[in-house]
Amino acid sequence: MVTEKAMLLGFIYTVTVLLAGYGTESSYSGGSDGHHHQIKRMASIKASYILRNGIAPTPPALISSTSTSRIHHVSDYYGGDPTGISDSTEALEQAIFDAFRSPVDGNHLINGVSNLGGSELHLDGGTYKITRPLRLPDTGGGNIMIHGGSIRASEDFPTDRYLIELMASSNQLSFEYITLKDLMIDSNFRGGGIAIVNSLRTTIDNCYISHFTTDGILIRDGHETFIRNSFIGQFINVGGDHREKDFFGTGINISGNDNVVTDVVIFSALIGVMVSGQANMLTGVHCYNKATTLGGTGIYIRAMGLTQTRISNCYLDFTGIVAEDPVQLHITGSFFLGNAFILIKSLNGVMSGVTIADNMFSGDYTGVRIVQLDQSNEPFRTIDQVVVDRNNVRGMVVKSTVGKGSVWRNGTSWTVDFSQVLLFPNMIKNVQYTLQVGASTSFPNHVLRNVSENRVTVETDVAVSATLRVSVDQSI
Ligand SMILES: *[C@@H]1O[C@H](CO)[C@@H](O)[C@H](O)[C@H]1NC(C)=O
Ligand SMILES: *[C@@H]1O[C@H](CO)[C@@H](O)[C@H](O)[C@H]1NC(C)=O
Ligand SMILES: *[C@@H]1O[C@H](CO)[C@@H](O)[C@H](O)[C@H]1NC(C)=O
Repeated sequence: MVTEKAMLLGFIYTVTVLLAGYGTESSYSGGSDGHHHQIKRMASIKASYILRNGIAPTPPALISSTSTSRIHHVSDYYGGDPTGISDSTEALEQAIFDAFRSPVDGNHLINGVSNLGGSELHLDGGTYKITRPLRLPDTGGGNIMIHGGSIRASEDFPTDRYLIELMASSNQLSFEYITLKDLMIDSNFRGGGIAIVNSLRTTIDNCYISHFTTDGILIRDGHETFIRNSFIGQFINVGGDHREKDFFGTGINISGNDNVVTDVVIFSALIGVMVSGQANMLTGVHCYNKATTLGGTGIYIRAMGLTQTRISNCYLDFTGIVAEDPVQLHITGSFFLGNAFILIKSLNGVMSGVTIADNMFSGDYTGVRIVQLDQSNEPFRTIDQVVVDRNNVRGMVVKSTVGKGSVWRNGTSWTVDFSQVLLFPNMIKNVQYTLQVGASTSFPNHVLRNVSENRVTVETDVAVSATLRVSVDQSI
């Protein structure tokens, strides 16, 4: 469809591009020599093509950055250097500017965000070096994709910025339905990778983000950023790297609500994913960013009043999860390898609506508990609806909010000790017991005598040979 139309209009396209090409050249007078050379070369190819044929030619694929196409090719038309040697900041900025300046007439996404009609900034597999962040224009816009190449920070890139920034100066939502796809982002140890601030419905898909010193991806405010199928790490390694003790920075820093991270690997960072916000969802996230024993954390959930975060089907690989004062937190179907565990940290002593269930834990038999409490600041005082149950464990110590146990004795007192398995010390909220009396004709009176220190004691009035079976629950 596009090709047929392009063939019909080929001649007009070519002339337009030539004019635009010369215009671009003069407007880029501050650019590098390589950059000028690039544009001149393109223009002369186009000119000779017309002269040779004398008729309306089929436009080569490169001639698509015309006023009618919404696909903007950074190297072909804007003179960016796809080898990554000379600076391409201006070429990228100009391409972004053009991509944002032709909205579909009168057509909007959310109020105030104009529809750019599926515009693309196409990197055509090039590697582009930039000295300044690629900041999308303050005018905002939506329905646009940046994709298909590599972007690398120069040696003098500002260290407090990100390579790509969706960050309007106003506090209003300025960007909606922006897609960053198939990009290799190399921060070159000069700041962060991608910042999504106050934006709506953004997708980061199949990106590889490395060498950041702050955050690989920052999400602040806004709603519904989807990060999927991506690889994020400060140092490129495959685990067990000799530099691991020095890894710093955060893979994904989410400071907002309603975002989803799906099928992402964080292979190097002090913190894999930091979440401060509500209604975020992490699924299929594999963290081996930095081992717990070296001070790293896979997923860190900050205290936010309401946590309301779901972590499902993730893989915590020698690095664990930390949650502060969680209120509504769900951790399920995940695999914890290499003594990785969940640490619940008390800041204000609140833990409510927490489910940790149906996970697998695997360790090296050195006695690491699968769920641990940090009450060094403040003891947990408000504990409500906390369920830790049905986790399967090899080589680590099970912790649970429920327990079942039994003991046989010939006497008048039976005690089942749950202090090793129950998560909260000295807290049993519900007990059920059965006293199964052996071959005996007597019917002893029995009573639940004591549940303190997570030990359940039942007594009878006469000595009998009996088995006490007990189930306890800390969550009711
Ligand atoms: C994450 O982002 C927030 C908000 O921009 C910032 O305050 C914080 O320092 C960042 N990094 C971490 C590790 O939380
Ligand atoms: C239980 O103890 C009593 C006396 O203490 C003894 O007579 C009885 O044989 C014991 N029963 C069993 C099953 O050991
Ligand atoms: C219950 O057990 C605790 C120790 O586990 C003990 O200090 C306490 O005195 C017992 N209470 C009763 C009523 O036996």
